[in-house]
Amino acid sequence: MSLISLKDVKFSYDKTNPAVDGVSFNVEKGEYIAVIGHNGSGKSTLARLINGLLSPDEGEIYVDDIKVGDKKTVFEVRKRVGVVFQNPDNQLVASIVEDDVAFGPENLGIPRKEIGERIDFALDAVGMQDFRKSSPTRLSGGQKQRVAIAGVLALKPQILILDESTAMLDPKGRKEVLSVVKKLNKEQAVTVLAITHYMEEVVDADRVIVLDSGKIVMQDTPREIFKREKELKEIGLELPLASYIANKMRKNGIELPEGVLTEQELSEALCK
Ligand SMILES: Nc1ncnc2c1ncn2[C@@H]1O[C@H](COP(=O)(O)OP(=O)(O)O)[C@@H](O)[C@H]1O
Ligand SMILES: [Mg+2]
Repeated sequence: MSLISLKDVKFSYDKTNPAVDGVSFNVEKGEYIAVIGHNGSGKSTLARLINGLLSPDEGEIYVDDIKVGDKKTVFEVRKRVGVVFQNPDNQLVASIVEDDVAFGPENLGIPRKEIGERIDFALDAVGMQDFRKSSPTRLSGGQKQRVAIAGVLALKPQILILDESTAMLDPKGRKEVLSVVKKLNKEQAVTVLAITHYMEEVVDADRVIVLDSGKIVMQDTPREIFKREKELKEIGLELPLASYIANKMRKNGIELPEGVLTEQELSEALCK
């Protein structure tokens, strides 16, 4: 059984225009999935459906064999699926970092002693131990987002969903958050669903899901996805910079292999 499983899921906010329109896919434990699609393609709605903030109108969602979208399972699902949103300022609730991280576990009624251990674990995981007693207002955007991730990790979720969690950060903050998430995926086997519009953040994913008008229009490895420049363009998506440059050069007669993803691959291909 897959860790996440969606079958023919449909949802609309107004009961007429579907925001998610017949989506099916499975995610295995430990996978790193990137979800891309232009504005309004249904990415955030999908995230809210998977953690039970919304219930599907049709179809079924299972997380760790638990049916999502029932009132009875809300807490069980929340424990397993943590969502980090776009704006770090809307996610931090306490005036001290450690209290903020403790907020979730306290709400779940976890014993005081264990909460302390969870704060330690979560702040270590995001590299923010030194800021334990700081006020979140004094942190950079990247640091705030790492605290927001720690708050989610304190619930020990099996699945981490990042809904454009790097969109409001500067390049340094983006790098910090991305490396923390990659480390959690590799070292703690946290399953990641990363919604992003930065194509550079997609290249390391195990698999990419492309949404358009609430439907999955492509699903493949980053290398295969980014070979389809024309189709991506038609639905308002770009290529990672290195792939874009490689394609341009190839069109100008420079011999380069297809499927270049990173600057390193591009420079290696050029040296040959
Ligand atoms: N709270 C809401 N109420 C009504 N319609 C919404 C709401 N949130 C999103 N939508 C609509 O649902 C569709 C999908 O939106 P969303 O899931 O936010 O897309 P994305 O995250 O890919 O930008 C869009 O047409 C959007 O206008
Ligand atoms: Mg969104």
